[in-house]
Amino acid sequence: MKRAPGSRGTAWIGSPLAEGPMQTHFEETHPAPVHGGLDARELESLGLRPEAVLDFSASINPLGAAPGVREALRSLPPDAYPDRSCLKLRRALGSRLDIQPDSILVGNGSTELIHLIARAFLDHGDTAVIFAPTFGEYAAACRLGEVSPLFLPSNQEAEFRWDLPHALNIISGLRPSLVFVCNPNNPTGTYLGEEEVRQIAESLDGRGLLVLDEAYRSFVDRRWRSQGLLRMGNVALLRSMTKDYALAGLRLGYMLGSKEVLACVGKFQYSWSVSAAAQAAGLVALDHPQHVEHGRCIVGASKKFLTGALSRMGLECLPSAANFLLVRVGEAARLRRELLTRYKVCVRDCASFGLPEHIRVGVRNIEESRRLVRALKAAAAITDNHE
Ligand SMILES: Cc1ncc(COP(=O)(O)O)c(C=O)c1O
Repeated sequence: MKRAPGSRGTAWIGSPLAEGPMQTHFEETHPAPVHGGLDARELESLGLRPEAVLDFSASINPLGAAPGVREALRSLPPDAYPDRSCLKLRRALGSRLDIQPDSILVGNGSTELIHLIARAFLDHGDTAVIFAPTFGEYAAACRLGEVSPLFLPSNQEAEFRWDLPHALNIISGLRPSLVFVCNPNNPTGTYLGEEEVRQIAESLDGRGLLVLDEAYRSFVDRRWRSQGLLRMGNVALLRSMTKDYALAGLRLGYMLGSKEVLACVGKFQYSWSVSAAAQAAGLVALDHPQHVEHGRCIVGASKKFLTGALSRMGLECLPSAANFLLVRVGEAARLRRELLTRYKVCVRDCASFGLPEHIRVGVRNIEESRRLVRALKAAAAITDNHE
């Protein structure tokens, strides 16, 4: 049976009578993952209204929520429980993806699925491998399972690509229970090809699960059909309808995998975790695949514009297959704060990825991208004047 997190003797809870916030050892060993998106507390402290801020720190479909979603939510009876098995949504996904509904597990965002996978596959003493730098929830989920993951860092000098032969050697030697690969990778935009991912799965030699997180796949121009990997049996694919159809507030993601893997993971999902609102929105959204295509076209055009404009400003802009750009700016935290407070534009400072000189820019439409460029130029002018 799985233990309660932090129950292995080292956790202690500060006295609730002590002055100041209660502190736990757990907080030190399990730091909360950092994310993009607007932070209510920060905005309040700066006296900013969220509606007034243009958010480039999250990376979702620039078109906003898919057509019909708002109407579907208005006609939703709030007093009925959601379908626990998300049957209609799985059927609709199944016919769109040409896959059996029982090969799909729907989650309250793909984040829930990451945590369920870690709970199902990791126990104290197991090994997990994470291709890094990447999304912080993989490490957080591993640590909650009392496993310190091994990070395989990419090479910054080689456009953040990984040394694959080295990675394969490590994986076959370590025999991990889980390997997390984000493809395209957040925040670098690196996109691995089919053969590379297949080799990673093979290096597990049938003993562990490869989790391929494809949260940003829909925004890749020349993407390969990853579903073929499911035949290997030890691969699970994660997708995010939050990103594809801009449903971030509703939370919706899904996982594709073998029936055995899904049964194992699904056991840890609590009942009704996917709300009726998220299911209804997802169903309507799936009727509008052109919404994703159109979003991808906008991303393509804006990415080209931003890459050109930022490079002309002397900022190093990494080629990205995804709907975000990693940009080297120098002191990223200071620039982020400046952009937010002076120009009401929010970008993601990448210090939590171990990249304090980089920001990540979620690609929005051209008009909005122009506003970002104007703000960056103004911020650069201020810095130049101060030097
Ligand atoms: C790589 C990656 N996977 C998953 C997620 C979470 O997506 P969801 O909203 O579906 O939980 C994110 C969100 O930033 C992400 O960057």
